[in-house]
Amino acid sequence: MRKQIVAGNWKMNHDLAETESFLVGLKEQVFPEEVTVMIAPSFTQLHHTYKSLRDHPVTTVAQNMHQAANGAFTGEVSAKMLKSVGINTVIIGHSERRAYFNEDHDTLAEKVNAAIEEDMTIIFCFGEELNDRKSDAHFDVVKKQLEDSLFHISDHSWKQVILAYEPVWAIGTGETASPEQAQEMHAFIRKEIAAAASQKIADEVSILYGGSVKPNNATEIFGKKDVDGGLIGGASLAVDSFMEIVNSF
Ligand code: PGA
Repeated sequence: MRKQIVAGNWKMNHDLAETESFLVGLKEQVFPEEVTVMIAPSFTQLHHTYKSLRDHPVTTVAQNMHQAANGAFTGEVSAKMLKSVGINTVIIGHSERRAYFNEDHDTLAEKVNAAIEEDMTIIFCFGEELNDRKSDAHFDVVKKQLEDSLFHISDHSWKQVILAYEPVWAIGTGETASPEQAQEMHAFIRKEIAAAASQKIADEVSILYGGSVKPNNATEIFGKKDVDGGLIGGASLAVDSFMEIVNSF
């Protein structure tokens, strides 16, 4: 049985005081046992959040990391540094990192390798742009993103991988892929994983959908056979809307 996961990606939102207020509210909640819940605050709040949630079912996740172990990379943070403050899961390949910080397929492959080497869990994000979908290239684009940055990993590393299909045209736009579009792509992704790795791995890996998931559409999207949860941006910033989504399976 695949893990059902809801992960909140806060992006560059919530300073320390706002994070603390979220955490106070979060700790009052009752969590469904069958759902793995994660939040990804900014680097500056990671250690505080980790300590605050140490005895709590919610996992603290980093939004990014550098591929090198250490060195002259001003402003960057390594996997080892994340682990030293209790963080064992990292988002890699978010479309905003690809678009605004020039993270290309090779860089992302290096990040994947560095995270795996440090025994971290990866939430690997990918997805097509609007033009790709309009020109019917979305399956090819997604396949290439996976082939270029992820499919090289060894079979036993797949247990450290969570996938997040996030069509760029649906992120922060209020536009969601229809549940049918999400299901169609998730089934395609699973088929490609079966071909690249094995059917067993494809059956076991969780594939999240991301892109304007809200309390009013989560149930329908999560109800699809190959959708195992969501990576949530805007709606993860408030405890109420985040919890509604957590309870949408
Ligand atoms: P959104 O962001 O839910 O605000 O569209 C999703 C994401 O970027 O992970």
